[in-house]
Amino acid sequence: MSKIITLHEFIMDSQAEFPFASGELSRLLNDIVVASKVVSRDVRRAGLTEDILGAQGEINIQGEEQQKLDVVADKAFIKMFETGGEVCGIASEENDDFVAFESEISKFGKYVVLFDPLDGSSNIDVNVSIGTIFSIYRRVSEAGTLATMKDMLQPGNKQVAAGYILYGSSTMLVYTTGHGVNGFTLDPSIGEYCLSHPNMRMPEKSRLYGMNEGNIEICHPGIKDYVQYCQSFENDFETPYSGRYIGSLVADFHRNLIKGGIYIYPKTKTAPKGKLRLLYECNPLAFIAEQAGGLAVTEKERVLDIIPHTLHQRCGYITGSKNQVEKVQELIAKRDSEI
Ligand code: AHG
Ligand code: MN
Ligand code: MN
Repeated sequence: MSKIITLHEFIMDSQAEFPFASGELSRLLNDIVVASKVVSRDVRRAGLTEDILGAQGEINIQGEEQQKLDVVADKAFIKMFETGGEVCGIASEENDDFVAFESEISKFGKYVVLFDPLDGSSNIDVNVSIGTIFSIYRRVSEAGTLATMKDMLQPGNKQVAAGYILYGSSTMLVYTTGHGVNGFTLDPSIGEYCLSHPNMRMPEKSRLYGMNEGNIEICHPGIKDYVQYCQSFENDFETPYSGRYIGSLVADFHRNLIKGGIYIYPKTKTAPKGKLRLLYECNPLAFIAEQAGGLAVTEKERVLDIIPHTLHQRCGYITGSKNQVEKVQELIAKRDSEI
C-alpha cells in the first residue's frame, strides 16, 4: 500500500526547490491551504444557509454582480494573508484597488498575492463547479515599506508560484512553483489535502475543445475556422471533436489539464479587450499550463510575457494542449490580415 502524502508534508519536503528557500513561501502556501478549507466548507453548505447563497447586491469593479460567496471567499483569503506575515499586499477581483497591509510584520512580508477568490461564481446557484485562482510574486519594493502598484504589475513570467482550488465533485488544490504541477485532493474525513495527482502532464493533443460559441461570429475569423476544423471530418482525428464548456474557467482548465483539450476566450466585438483578467485568471493558469507541457497565448503572444499596465487588465485567452493551441494560432495567423 502506498504512503499517504499530505500537502503540508509535500510543501515541507519541496522547500529546497523553492526560489529563495527560506520557509516563507511554504508558510504562505499553508495559509492558502487553510483559507481554501474554510471556503470549501462554505461552498459545500451553500443552499443550506440563507446568508451564503445568492447575490450580494453590489456590482464589483468589473461591472459584474457580486455573489455572497464571492465576498465570503475574498474575506477568508484576505484574512489569512493579512495575519500570516508573509504577504505585504494583495489584489483581488473583488477589490477596486490593491490592498497594502499596514502592520509592521506584513510590511516585511516578501510576497504579494493576486487572486480570483471565486471563479465561475455565476455557477454557484446551479451547483456547478467553481474555484479559486492565485498567483504569487516576490515584491519589488523595499521590505519594511508598504506594498506598491509596481509589486502588483509584474509580468506572469516572474511568478514564483501559482495554483487553483477546484470546488468540484471533490475539492482539489493544484499548484506549481516552477518545478512541475502537482494535484491534491481534500479528504474531508481527515481535513487534509492528500497527493492524488503527482507530476501532472497535459496531453499534447485531444479531441476536446471549449469556448462560449455564442461569441463565434464576433471574434477573430481564425477562431471560427478552428472551431469548424474541430467540427469537421477534415481534422487530425478525421472525426468531429467533442465540445466541452462549463463556464467556470478553473473547471474547464482542470478538465483540459487531465484529459487534454483547449479553452478559448477570445477578444470579441462586445469585449474588445477580452473578458478574462490577466493578473489573477490568465497568468496563474498559464504558468500551470506551461509547467504541465501545455501552452497559453492571446490571439498572438505568450500570456506570461505580457507587461501589465492595470490591475484588472483583460486579455484574449487560449490555453490547453500544445498541438491544439498551435493549430488555432496557425489559423489565426492565416486570417489576421482581414482584421
Ligand atoms: P468570475 O466568476 O470570476 O467573474 O469569472 C467568470 C469567467 C470564467 O470563469 C468563465 O470561464 C467565463 O467567465 C465565462 O464567461 P461566459 O459566461 O461569457 O461564457
Ligand atoms: Mn474568474
Ligand atoms: Mn471571481
